[in-house]
Amino acid sequence: MRVAGIFKTFPLGKKGSVRALDAISFDMAQRELVAVVGPSGCGKSTLLRIIAGLETPDAGEVRIGADTPATLTARHRLGVAFQDHGLLPWLTVAGNIGLPYRLAGLPPDPARIAALAGMVGLSKFLEAVPRQLSGGMRQRVSLARSIALDPVLLLLDEPFGALDLVTRRTLNQELQSLWTDLGTTTLLITHSVEEAVQLADRVLVMAARPGRIHAEFRIDLPRPRDRALTNSLPFLNLVQAVSSSLDDASAASGEQTEPGA
Ligand SMILES: Nc1ncnc2c1ncn2[C@@H]1O[C@H](COP(=O)(O)OP(=O)(O)OP(=O)(O)O)[C@@H](O)[C@H]1O
Ligand SMILES: [Mg+2]
Repeated sequence: MRVAGIFKTFPLGKKGSVRALDAISFDMAQRELVAVVGPSGCGKSTLLRIIAGLETPDAGEVRIGADTPATLTARHRLGVAFQDHGLLPWLTVAGNIGLPYRLAGLPPDPARIAALAGMVGLSKFLEAVPRQLSGGMRQRVSLARSIALDPVLLLLDEPFGALDLVTRRTLNQELQSLWTDLGTTTLLITHSVEEAVQLADRVLVMAARPGRIHAEFRIDLPRPRDRALTNSLPFLNLVQAVSSSLDDASAASGEQTEPGA
């Protein structure tokens, strides 16, 4: 996947404009997991939405192999999950996980849907509806749905952001083994530096106004990154380094808006 020279400015009425993204470029290797951290408002979600083809950049382009976000979406091979799980309340867990099949005009594959539910620990809840599930369970459904059609690229925008720390740790472990099994190229946005360092091959630190890449860290730690690893000195040193870079990025982040012309 290649993101090349992305610019995006949002108008803000008489108050001027927001330079949400300024010359963002980076590559992702196949099977790579890249995490993005940065202060609130630095353009992380905007970047993800552009890569997902949900927003158009002012300049620059996104390539996923020979595909653009639009062609990949048309082929139903782009997986997306957001903080707001976005489940349909009237569909069961099986219905929600199988939704991408319906949207792609394919017959749902019950065996595959059951396997996906199993991967996220929800085998017993296939017939439950979202209101019968906890927040963590709903995020698991959302994750299972995002990988249902075996995406070429998986985009996750703070998928566990609304959950308590313990549930979050559990889901991180699950995401880790899921990702190890599937090998899907994944871009993960998170507010947690620990989460980023635990899961990623590489961490990008963004700064705000204009939104830009401030620093990049390669995470050469062995996998699986279990509790022993996350308690080890190399892990803690990396967390420390990324955190202090994030502090610098926050300090270097400019005013909320640009003045109007
Ligand atoms: N549709 C929009 N219209 C106008 N401004 C927008 C729009 N979407 C985002 N912005 C602005 O672009 C900037 C980046 O927003 P974005 O949501 O990408 O930040 P973020 O890094 O995801 O923040 P957070 O960590 O709080 O989720 C913000 O200043 C925001 O106000
Ligand atoms: Mg966001």
